[in-house]
Amino acid sequence: MMEKPIEEMGLRDIRELARARMPQEVWRHFMGAAETRATFRRNQRSLQRFVFRQRIFHDITDPRTTVELFGHPVSTPAFVAPVGSFAMIRETAEREVGEGAGRARTMLFVSHAAISSPRDWKEASRAPIVFMGYLTRGREDVLRCAKLAEEVGFAAVGLTMDTVQPVKIGDRIPLSKIDGKPRTGHPASPKDIEWLKREVSLPLVVKGIMGAEDARVAVGAGADAVVVSNHGGRILDYNRAAVEALPEVVEAVGRKVPVLLDSGVRGGGDIAKALALGAKAVLVGRPVAWGVAAAGVAGVERVIRLFTDELKRVMIMTGVGAVSEITESILIRE
Ligand SMILES: Cc1cc2nc3c(=O)[nH]c(=O)nc-3n(C[C@H](O)[C@H](O)[C@H](O)COP(=O)(O)O)c2cc1C
Repeated sequence: MMEKPIEEMGLRDIRELARARMPQEVWRHFMGAAETRATFRRNQRSLQRFVFRQRIFHDITDPRTTVELFGHPVSTPAFVAPVGSFAMIRETAEREVGEGAGRARTMLFVSHAAISSPRDWKEASRAPIVFMGYLTRGREDVLRCAKLAEEVGFAAVGLTMDTVQPVKIGDRIPLSKIDGKPRTGHPASPKDIEWLKREVSLPLVVKGIMGAEDARVAVGAGADAVVVSNHGGRILDYNRAAVEALPEVVEAVGRKVPVLLDSGVRGGGDIAKALALGAKAVLVGRPVAWGVAAAGVAGVERVIRLFTDELKRVMIMTGVGAVSEITESILIRE
C-alpha cells in the first residue's frame, strides 16, 4: 500500500507509522507509564470530559494562534516538551526535532538528559529554546548548561522538579543512559529555585507542578512560569490528570506568572480546553516523538501544524478570534 504524504496524515496515521518504524523496546520506552498506567489514561480521559459550546453567528474566519512568552512571539501555543530520549529513535532525532520546531514556528523545550548541548540545540533550531535542567545531574552540571543556554541566547531556563522519585515504566525504573546505574530521584526544594534564579538572568520555569500549594512555593521562590504536568503519567500512578490540577494552579498563581500544561494533549481540541481553563500554552511530548520517528523534521512540523489547524477550527466553531480571548465560556463539563 502506498503511504500518504506526511502533510496529509492525521495523528493516528503518524502514530502507527512511528510504531512500525521504532524498535519495539524504544516504542515501549516512549509509551511507558508508571505501574498500572492509571495516570496516563486519566490525562486523556479528563480532557475528553469537556465538550465545546458551538457558536456560529460571528465573522471570525482566520483566528490568531500567536502567543508571546518571555518576550518571544511564536505562531502557536503547541510547544515541544522536553524529552531526554529522542536520540533512542535515531542518532539525528534531536536535530530533527530542533529543526522541525523552528519550521513550525513554535517554542522548543529541551531536556538536560538529551545528548545535544545547548549550543547544539541552538545550531539545530530557529525556535526560541528553553533549557530544562535535572538536579539529579548535580547543581554544577545544571549551572554549566544554564550558563551556556544564557550565552547562546536561549529564551529561558528551568528545572523539572517532579522527579522526586525516578521515572518508572510499568514496574521497572529505567537504567540511566550516562553511567548505566538505575535512576534515582531528587528532593524538590524551593532553595534550588532561589539558587538558579540568583545565578542566571533568564526567566526561570518550574515543571512538574500538580497543585496550588506547590505552585505558590515555586512562584514564591522565583519561578517566572510553571508547567502543570504529571510527566505524562511516568512518575506517580493514580495521580490526578494535569487538566484536573490546572484550575487550582491558575487560581493560585495565574495572576502572577504564565501557567503552561502538558500530559495527554493529543490535538487542537485539547489545547483549546487547556487554554480555556487558564493555560497560556501547552507542551506536547509523545506526539512529537511519533512525528520525528515517522518522518523526521517534516513529521515534527506536521504534528505541530496539525494541532494548530485543529485549534483554529475549534476557535472558529466557538467564536473566538485570538488565543488570548479563549475563556471557560467555550466549554461545558460533562
Ligand atoms: C520518553 C519520554 C522522555 C521524557 N523525558 C523528559 C525529560 O528528560 N525531562 C522532562 O522534563 N520531561 C521529560 N518527559 C516528560 C515530558 O516533558 C512531558 O511532560 C510529557 O511527555 C507530556 O505528556 P505527553 O507525552 O502525554 O504529551 C519525557 C516524556 C517521555 C514520554
